[in-house]
Amino acid sequence: MLSRMRILECASRDEAADLVAAEVLAALRSKPDLVLGFATGSTPVGVYERLVRAHREDGVSFGRVTTFNLDEYVGLSPDHPCSYRIFMRRHLFDGIDVPPQNIHFPPVEGADLASACREFEARIRACGGIDLQLLGIGSNGHIGFNEPTSSLASRTRVMTLTDKTLADNARFYADPGEQPRLATTMGIGTILEARRVLLQSFGFKKALAVRTAIEGSVSSFCPASALQMHPDVTFYLDSESASLLTMRDYYRRAREDEARLAPEDA
Ligand code: PGA
Repeated sequence: MLSRMRILECASRDEAADLVAAEVLAALRSKPDLVLGFATGSTPVGVYERLVRAHREDGVSFGRVTTFNLDEYVGLSPDHPCSYRIFMRRHLFDGIDVPPQNIHFPPVEGADLASACREFEARIRACGGIDLQLLGIGSNGHIGFNEPTSSLASRTRVMTLTDKTLADNARFYADPGEQPRLATTMGIGTILEARRVLLQSFGFKKALAVRTAIEGSVSSFCPASALQMHPDVTFYLDSESASLLTMRDYYRRAREDEARLAPEDA
């Protein structure tokens, strides 16, 4: 297996979405019972549009796929417009043929969330682990809802959201009192066990988090920096998110070399 951290500066968000969707579809072709880890937020929407199109226009089937979402809010009903269960239905699940019983979200209801979180982890293991995990990154460096100072070994659990995350997402709530302050998230340890990680980041707002994650020290203060410990992670960045990287030219050259030396992997 290749061990690598790839940093791809893409010409546009569309190019990033094209590349990530192509990776998902190639993985699906070689393993029809693929286990996919999905993310929410504005970042992965372009990928989901492409997966829906592949299903509708090219007949690609997700009928044997199993999915695990990264996170969900505690305190929103499943049909609340801001719940991630609704988000995923709207952007992906209603447009493809993944069987509803194969779709999993971290638990957010019930008296014993801690044991439900352990069951969620056991379910991932029972499915053979996550083959391919999609990620975004928060402006504070979070992945999933693993906020700064999350244990790098953390597992699925309930997290208190930071003021930064609450402010970044406040625009979705007409009534500020409705915005959840807690979420259940896969842990950093959980994410690191996915076989491949594909992280997209767009916009200048994320540029400092991206630089800290890629070029800074591994630190719980920037949870995405833990991905430096992952053997197969690719960052798909637009030029704004890449703008503060100090080795931008080097990453471009490495990408060109990779395309020349191993065209099937590039
Ligand atoms: P966004 O959120 O895709 O809406 O920017 C990403 C994240 O906070 O992980």
